[in-house]
Amino acid sequence: MSALLRASCVLLLGLLFASSSSCRDRVRIPPHDQVARVARFVAHQVDWASMATVSTHEPVVGRPFSNVFSVSDGPESSGTGVPYMYLTRMEISVQDLQVNPEASLSMSLAQTDFCRLQGFDPQSPLCAHVILTGSVLEVKGLEAEFAKKSLFSRHPEMMEWPSDHNWFFCKFNITQVWVLDYFGGVKTVSPEDYFLASLHKKHH
Ligand SMILES: *[C@@H]1O[C@H](CO)[C@@H](O)[C@H](O)[C@H]1NC(C)=O
Repeated sequence: MSALLRASCVLLLGLLFASSSSCRDRVRIPPHDQVARVARFVAHQVDWASMATVSTHEPVVGRPFSNVFSVSDGPESSGTGVPYMYLTRMEISVQDLQVNPEASLSMSLAQTDFCRLQGFDPQSPLCAHVILTGSVLEVKGLEAEFAKKSLFSRHPEMMEWPSDHNWFFCKFNITQVWVLDYFGGVKTVSPEDYFLASLHKKHH
């Protein structure tokens, strides 16, 4: 290999490395002891969540029932921490919510490239995951407009969903945040601390 070729390979590798590390910088997980920020980070990174409801359907009436929903807490890089959803009363879990709006939402960085790239098993607490408990509430007016912008920007297919299904916008009203982001057991964060936490690093 000529010296010139070698030099250009080194340069190319250098450029690749520089660009990939700056990509990572943009989406770097907050330190694990900043639990509320980690929770906000996970809630913003994921595009979907598993939602558990109390079933109203035979033969599992009264039992936990977990199902997948598309979520968004705001347009790309401007997360509010509030997971919004686009729902129809034709859906099995939404029928549960009509009877009992209490639910829990699980979200994990296993749903992004993070855990795979780091070599963290989804069940490892290092593969940060959160469980939000609370209830699902319909939103109207300005908040529904914001939910629409948040969801449709990250799930463009929603614009094409059949209009005769009477879709409506909801938010997940958080009463407690449970965080697994390190060894030593689950940590809890109050909704107040969760919403006060900054998604991005503070520059002061
Ligand atoms: C919404 O969540 C707050 C806690 O963040 C709680 O005080 C309030 O009762 C909840 N509202 C409903 C309707 O569940």
